[in-house]
Amino acid sequence: MVTVTIDGKKIEVPEGMTVLEAAAQAGITIPTLCYHKDLSPHGGCRLCVVEVKGARTPLASCTLPVSEGMEVTTESPTLRESRRTILQLLLSTYHDAGYAANDGRPNELEQWARVYGLDPYEAMAKAPRYSINSDPNPFVWVDLNKCILCGRCIRACAEVQGRFVWGLAERGYDTRIVAGMDETMLEARCESCGACVAYCPTGALDNKPSVGAGAPDKVVTTTCSYCGVGCQFDFQVNTKTNRILRVTSNPQAPVNGMHLCVKGRYGYDYIHHPDRLLKPRVREYLLKGEKRPANGERGPWVEVDWDTALEIVARKLVEARDTYGPDSVGILTSAKCTNEENYLMNKLARQVIGTNNIDHCARLCHSSTVAGLALAYGSGAMSNSMKDVAEKAAVIFIIGSNTTEQHPVFGAMIRQAVLKRGAKLIVADPRKIDITEFATLHLQQRPGTDIALLNGLMHIIVQNGWQDEAFIAERTENYEAFLENLQDYTPEKVSAITGVPVERLYQAAEIMGKNRPMAVIWAMGITQHIVGVQNVLTLANLQMLLGNMGVPGGGVNPLRGQNNVQGACDMGGLPDVYPGYQRVTTEEARLKFEQAWGVALPDKVGLTVTEMIPAAGEGKIKAMYILGENPVMSDPDSNHVRHCLQTLDFLALQEIFPSETSAYADVLLPGVSFAEKDGTFTNTERRVQRVRQAIQPLGEARPDWMIIQDLAQRILGQGNRQVNPEAPYGKWNYTNTAQIMDEIAALTPIYAGISHARLEVGESLQWPVRSKDHPGTPILHVGRFTRGKGKFHPTVHVPPAEQPDRTYPMVLTTGRVLYHWHGGEMTRRSKGLMKVYDRPLIEINPEDAQRIGLNGKRMVRVSSRRGSIIAEAWITERVPPGLIYGNFHFPEASVNELTLAALDPISKIPEFKVAAVRVEAYSE
Ligand code: FES
Repeated sequence: MVTVTIDGKKIEVPEGMTVLEAAAQAGITIPTLCYHKDLSPHGGCRLCVVEVKGARTPLASCTLPVSEGMEVTTESPTLRESRRTILQLLLSTYHDAGYAANDGRPNELEQWARVYGLDPYEAMAKAPRYSINSDPNPFVWVDLNKCILCGRCIRACAEVQGRFVWGLAERGYDTRIVAGMDETMLEARCESCGACVAYCPTGALDNKPSVGAGAPDKVVTTTCSYCGVGCQFDFQVNTKTNRILRVTSNPQAPVNGMHLCVKGRYGYDYIHHPDRLLKPRVREYLLKGEKRPANGERGPWVEVDWDTALEIVARKLVEARDTYGPDSVGILTSAKCTNEENYLMNKLARQVIGTNNIDHCARLCHSSTVAGLALAYGSGAMSNSMKDVAEKAAVIFIIGSNTTEQHPVFGAMIRQAVLKRGAKLIVADPRKIDITEFATLHLQQRPGTDIALLNGLMHIIVQNGWQDEAFIAERTENYEAFLENLQDYTPEKVSAITGVPVERLYQAAEIMGKNRPMAVIWAMGITQHIVGVQNVLTLANLQMLLGNMGVPGGGVNPLRGQNNVQGACDMGGLPDVYPGYQRVTTEEARLKFEQAWGVALPDKVGLTVTEMIPAAGEGKIKAMYILGENPVMSDPDSNHVRHCLQTLDFLALQEIFPSETSAYADVLLPGVSFAEKDGTFTNTERRVQRVRQAIQPLGEARPDWMIIQDLAQRILGQGNRQVNPEAPYGKWNYTNTAQIMDEIAALTPIYAGISHARLEVGESLQWPVRSKDHPGTPILHVGRFTRGKGKFHPTVHVPPAEQPDRTYPMVLTTGRVLYHWHGGEMTRRSKGLMKVYDRPLIEINPEDAQRIGLNGKRMVRVSSRRGSIIAEAWITERVPPGLIYGNFHFPEASVNELTLAALDPISKIPEFKVAAVRVEAYSE
C-alpha cells in the first residue's frame, strides 16, 4: 500500500494502481475519454491530465501509477483550460449529423464539452469529412465523422472479443480507424459482437438496428434467451409502443460484463416479427365435433378464444389418460422457458396426468453428460465457472465444442486467457474450428474416436508418471481396472484409430501432464454419439487421473446448449427424476412428492423424447403436449419424426411461431417470448438468474406459466385421477412466478436457498444453495465428490453406428453456426442475422469438391439412407477430406433429414455427429 494525497485527501491505495483509479476510490471523478476500466490504458486523449507536485507538466492520470507521498490536484484553472483546449481540438474534427442512436447512452464527448463550457454543436466541424453509415455490416453503424480516435473500439475488439478487426490507418489529420486492411468489417472477419459499439464514447460506432428507433422510456435488465452462457443485458423499451428498441450492455452482468455476442445483442427482432402467434388456433374438425381426417391431415386452422382452446386440450389429454392410461400421454417441456415454467410442466405431467413421460431437448444435447458424470462423480453438472476457467486454468482442453460459435462470449474469454496470460489451449475436433487459431495444439481426430484418443493420452500420461497419485489414492476408486484397460491403447494403435499423429499425442499428453490445473470443456461433439456416456466417463477419468477436480481452474465443464437447458433438467423435465435430480424410482423421493402434491405418483421411469416419438408412431403414445420444442427440426431422421407425429391422436403445441411441428398439431397455444415474462433461467455453470418482463404480451398471447396453470386447473378434478387439494402444494393458484420458485425451493434441496427476493437484491447464486443464507457453490466436488469417491470407469472404443461404404462413402457431422440458433425459429426471423447467413451451407474440403466434379458449381445433393437434401457447398479446409459438415437451422435443407436415430443405450441420445452420406454435384 502507498499513501497519496488527492485534492487534499490523504488515502491509502495499493501500489501499482493508477492515479485515476486512486481518485475514483476517493470518490473523485477525473474526466476521461480514451480510458475504460475494462480495457488496457491508452493515454491518448489527455483529458484526464492532473497536476502532480514536483512534475513540470500535467500528466495523464489513466496511465500514471501512484507512488508513496504523491500529491495530486485534479482540478485547477490550468487543468480546466487544458481540458477545454483538448475538447475544442477534438470537436474541431468531429461532426454529429444527428443520425445515430448512440446505443441509448449519453455521448461522452458532448457531455464533457458542456462541463467545460463548450456548446458541442457550436464547436464541432461544420461539415462531415466522411460518408455516413460507411460500412455494410447489418448491425454496426459507422460514422467516422464522430470518431475521436480514442482507440476504445480497437482495444475492445482485441481485448474483449479477440478478433483484431479495427486498427488505425493514415497519418496526422487523415488518421482514421479502419477494419482490417481498409475493407468492410465482415471482410475483416468481424463477428458482429458489437463490443466496439458498446465501448465507443461518441456513437461513431452505433447499433444500426437502433438508429432512428426512438427514445426508450424504460430499461429492463434480463437474461439472454440464446445459449447457456447466461449473459445479462438491458432491454431499452418504449412502453407506449410496447416495443423493444435495442439491447445494451449492462456492466454489472455477472457472467459477461459489457460483452455480448451477435445473437444476444442484435438477434432480438424476432420478438416483434409478424409471424408471432397472437391468438389460440384449433383445427376446424375439433370445432365441428368431427373425427380427425383419416389420412393424417389435420385440416384448416380456426382462431378461437382461450377458453375454447384450453377446454379442448384439457378434454383430449383427459380422454387419452382415462382411456389408455396416463402413460399414453407424452409431455415435452422446453429449455427455452423459465425454471418456473419447467417446474410446472413437471408437476403437470406427474401430478395432473400421472405419467413420468416428460422430457426435452437436453436428451438431444447433454443427456450423456448428465448420465456419465452422475456415474463417475454423483452429479451431472458443470463443476467450475466460466470466469474461473478463463482466469485460472493453466491448460484449457476443448474437445467437441465449437466454443467461439456456440458459446461466443465464453469463447472470447478463452481467447483472452490465451492472449493475455498465456494459458495453453488444446483443441480436439475433427474440424478446424475457429478457436483452433488460438490453440497450442489441434488434435484432428476422426469423428467417433474420442475414447481411443483420450485413452491414448492417458496411456502416455501413466507411462511417464504424470498422474496425480495422491489424488487418485485419496479420492477415487476402481483405479486398477481402469489402468488395466489403458494398456490396450498404445500411441500407435490410437493413432491408427484416430488419425492423430503419434508425436501429437505425446505433445498433448505432456502439456496435460506437466501443467496444472487443466479445465476440460466439451459439448455435443462428445455427447451426441452412441458412446456419449462412455465419452463423458473417459473425460471424467482424465480429470481424476490428473487430480484436476475440485480445484479452481480445473474441473469438467460441459457447456449447455440452450439458455435454460440446465434449469429444465434441474426442474425435473426428465423422465427419471423429480426437481433436483431426486429419482422417481426412489421411494423416499416419491413419497415426498406424493405428500406435497396430494396424489399417488408413478414409480417407473418414463419415456425419453427419442422413445416417445417412435412410441407415437407405434400407437403407444396417443396424445402429446409440447412446449416450445420443434422435434421435426431438432430430432434425427425428420421423415420418421413426421410420420410418428402424424400418427398421434392429438397434439397440442405451445409456441411463439408456427413451426415445422405445428403442421402436425391440433391446437396451437400462443406463448410469449422471454421479453414478455418473469422468472429465472439457470445457466451452464448452475447460476440462477432473473428473467424480467420488459414488454406486455403481444396480442392475446400469454406467459407460458399462466397457460400451463390454466390447463392444469381445467384438468384437475376431471376424470378418474383425484388430487388432494389440501396437500401443501396440491393446488395450482400461483399469482406470480416468485411463488412458484418458493415451491421449487421447498421441494428441491439444491435450490433450497433460492428466491426471487435474493436474486432481486443482486445476489448471483450457483446451486447447490442449501439454505436461505447459503452463498451458493461456485466449484463442485471440493474435497469430496457428490457420490463420495470418484469412480474410474474402464471405457472401450466402439466405432460409430454407421460407417462409410461404397454407396455412402463420406461422413456427415452436424452442428450449428454462429449466426443461427437451433431450429432457426428465432434467428431466421432476425433480419440482420439473415443478412449475414441466409442459407444452409455444407462445408466440404476442396479435394472432395474436385473429386465429385463441383468445378465451380455451387449446389450439392447430400443423401443418406434416410433422405436427401440440396444445399450450397462451402468449399473450405475447415473440414478434412472425407468429412462434410452441415447445420439444422433451415427447414429447406436440414441435416436432420439425413441423420440417424441410433441411440446411446444409457442416455438415449442420438448419434447426430456421424452419418454415412453420398455427396454429388447438383444442377437445377
Ligand atoms: Fe487518460 Fe484519455 S483518458 S489519456
